[in-house]
Amino acid sequence: ENRATVYDAIGGRETVHQLVQAFYKRVGQHPDLIPIFPDDLTETARKQEQFLSQFLGGPPYYTEEHGHPMLRARHLPFEITPSRKDAWLACMQEALREVNIEEPYYSAILERLTHTAHHMMNTPEDRK
Ligand code: HEM
Repeated sequence: ENRATVYDAIGGRETVHQLVQAFYKRVGQHPDLIPIFPDDLTETARKQEQFLSQFLGGPPYYTEEHGHPMLRARHLPFEITPSRKDAWLACMQEALREVNIEEPYYSAILERLTHTAHHMMNTPEDRK
């Protein structure tokens, strides 16, 4: 059976790499996100590339190296407020545009990431 994946449709490993680079370039400059991310985003980007690969239907690189993603649990050490969720999604939206992800993939990917990002919130705004 030959099933097309979003991963293949957008250009596979190279596109996911470019997307993640474009994303963390913005994360590293965003005033709301800088406080919770490490100064060196190399390893963070490497893991995100592995995760987004499998999230988009590509090879399960993240799970192969780190086991079940358990993303909400892995984010609990960081205070993820509604405004940090919005900042994360804004960086991702700009990154998707920068690497020219086209419709219908642009909206489909953003919709799924928005859902996942909502799930990561763990701190009300006033504790930021
Ligand atoms: C790791 C923040 C949403 C996927 C991290 C880290 C932070 C963070 C601070 C740790 C970085 C490090 O120590 O290297 C946030 C914030 C979000 C958010 C503020 C806003 C809602 C998401 C979403 C996804 C995601 C929506 C998936 C689509 C990951 C992955 C890691 C990670 C895969 C690496 C986990 C590991 O250490 O194995 N995130 N994140 N994050 N995040 Fe997020």
